[in-house]
Amino acid sequence: MANILIIGAGGVGRVVVHKCVQNRDVFEHITLASRRLSSCEVYQKEVKERYDTDIDIAQVDADDVPALVALIQKVKPDMVLNIALPYQDLTIMEACLQTGVHYLDTANYEHPDSAKFEYKEQWAFDNRYKDAKIMALLGSGFDPGVTNVFCAYAQKHYFDEIETIDILDCNAGDHGYAFATNFNPEINLREVSSKGRYWENGEWIETEPMEIKMVWDYPQIGKKDSYLLYHEEMESLVKHIKGLKRIRFFMTFGESYLTHMKCLENVGMLGIKEVEHNGQKIIPMQFLKTLLPDPSTLGARTKGKTNIGIVATGVKNGVKRSIYIYNVCDHEQTFKETGAQAVSYTTGVPAMIGAKLMMEGKWTGHGVFNLEEFDPDPFMEALNIQGLPWIVKEL
Ligand SMILES: NC(=O)c1ccc[n+]([C@@H]2O[C@H](COP(=O)([O-])OP(=O)(O)OC[C@H]3O[C@@H](n4cnc5c(N)ncnc54)[C@H](OP(=O)(O)O)[C@@H]3O)[C@@H](O)[C@H]2O)c1
Repeated sequence: MANILIIGAGGVGRVVVHKCVQNRDVFEHITLASRRLSSCEVYQKEVKERYDTDIDIAQVDADDVPALVALIQKVKPDMVLNIALPYQDLTIMEACLQTGVHYLDTANYEHPDSAKFEYKEQWAFDNRYKDAKIMALLGSGFDPGVTNVFCAYAQKHYFDEIETIDILDCNAGDHGYAFATNFNPEINLREVSSKGRYWENGEWIETEPMEIKMVWDYPQIGKKDSYLLYHEEMESLVKHIKGLKRIRFFMTFGESYLTHMKCLENVGMLGIKEVEHNGQKIIPMQFLKTLLPDPSTLGARTKGKTNIGIVATGVKNGVKRSIYIYNVCDHEQTFKETGAQAVSYTTGVPAMIGAKLMMEGKWTGHGVFNLEEFDPDPFMEALNIQGLPWIVKEL
């Protein structure tokens, strides 16, 4: 059926390749491209050994629009799955526009020089995507991604009006290292060391990093310190969930992680501006990434579970209610299935599902979309089938 081009052969890219190969009835032809061909070769070999199936591979610098256009013209995909870094969102969107090919990603555009993400520049493609009669699906990972679909599902089946949403993200995995990040260290550390922000009564309220903490009892995991962060899906949910009065995002961090991060920050290792070192220019955060364990290698050593979900409160038929929708994912099980830990898995599976719904014609449109704009039911159904079953609880 579909011919797809996946760009980015990292931790999440690995899962996307596995899950697309597992759904060969939809993804008939798969090409994996990345900055280094060697990264693609590893996964090409892996799926050949595991599923006895072939995928094509290619080298591309996704910062280079003409190079992307040339690759897309050669591969002639029906869609491009951007599983590289948020820095590449705009160039890949531009290349898809120039070639008339659908687009999907898992993370909001960020400029390398400023640790700030917003949808503005990606939403600005909307009219041009409409004119070109193509579709972009933004943020089809877990959060953003599944959390947006959970909100749309709550809205559709449980509420006349949702008043508050808390997104609750817990990773209780233990990889045995003193300090490591579960996905790209640069993107991860930029996110968690930034100021917090939540939305209440029509305005954004800024907090110091890690200023607001609560303890949440995560099913199958237990009580964990959870800190308020800014997270990108709030920007689109505020726009699309009508009547919303407050939305917040919380993520769990252990004492040791926060102490390491504070020390690194205090000595300047989280800096994203160039510094001079022995006559060479380096960016501290990028040097730190070189020192830290590669997240794509954590799978084999990580034990424990993730639990990510939403708590929505609101009104149905005049009665107040509160529901919790969540998924629990086991690091060891995802490693067994795909060679990746659960953070990569929970991102890669929804990326495949978003692409599958687009290619099957279940989610269609012209322009730029976030996931909560579509009917959540086929996505929720696919989560149960594709390895990320969910639970709804009345609180
Ligand atoms: N929504 C969610 O829930 C969620 C959660 C976690 C992560 N994410 C997002 O998922 C994406 C992938 O994360 P990850 O953990 O897989 O990161 P990763 O392991 O660092 O992988 C990123 C891959 O992108 C490739 N790449 C980087 N720059 C490139 C360029 N200029 N041209 C071509 N390829 C390039 C790298 O290629 P080489 O190996 O070839 O050098 C690398 O393999 C990120 O955008 C991250 O923010 C989303």
